[in-house]
Amino acid sequence: MYTILFTIAAYLIGSISFAVVTSRAFGLSDPRTYGSKNPGATNVLRSGSKKAAIATLAGDCVKGWLAVWLAVHFGGRFGLDDGGVALVAIAVFLGHLWPVFFRFVGGKGVATALGVLLGLNVWLGLAVLATWLVVAYAFRYSSLAALVAAVMAPLYYGIGLGVDEKLFAVIFMSVLLLYRHASNITKLLAGKESRIGSKAAGAK
Ligand code: G3P
Repeated sequence: MYTILFTIAAYLIGSISFAVVTSRAFGLSDPRTYGSKNPGATNVLRSGSKKAAIATLAGDCVKGWLAVWLAVHFGGRFGLDDGGVALVAIAVFLGHLWPVFFRFVGGKGVATALGVLLGLNVWLGLAVLATWLVVAYAFRYSSLAALVAAVMAPLYYGIGLGVDEKLFAVIFMSVLLLYRHASNITKLLAGKESRIGSKAAGAK
């Protein structure tokens, strides 16, 4: 019973789209109307506002972390086991991808997945973040960095933490994250992906 409540609460937390909320707060265009049309930090950066992009990144990351952290630290009192934590991790991620508060039009899940991983294990999250940073610094493509980090996340988990229910949540997130980046993969292969920092037409 409590597992269901934690899972629903996680989905609702995940459904808060910080790209949309932050853009409104900063008086910017809706990120669903310009650039890649993705409500995420990378696209908000295309508005030209670094502050809004950082706020989006922080908000989407913290919500993933918070849901999992609460489940890990307080779930035990309510009978949540590893499987319950895995469900919470998946639920907050699904909330970000298909948010009930925004007509189920959500983001690609990179920042929220990072928050989830940090909540599961700080070192796991930092290793995945480091991977993202190295690839992003080397190639200047946010999406490519996310794709590489998504592939590496389950490997890091399996090698560092072993095989358990939470690993399956990490695999599930990675597969969905790759799926959500289908258009980015096409653009990367065609050499048409925009690099980090380029501004989108029509954004203010
Ligand atoms: O965070 C999502 C990023 O990996 C790609 O975003 O806007 O370039 O599709 P975008």
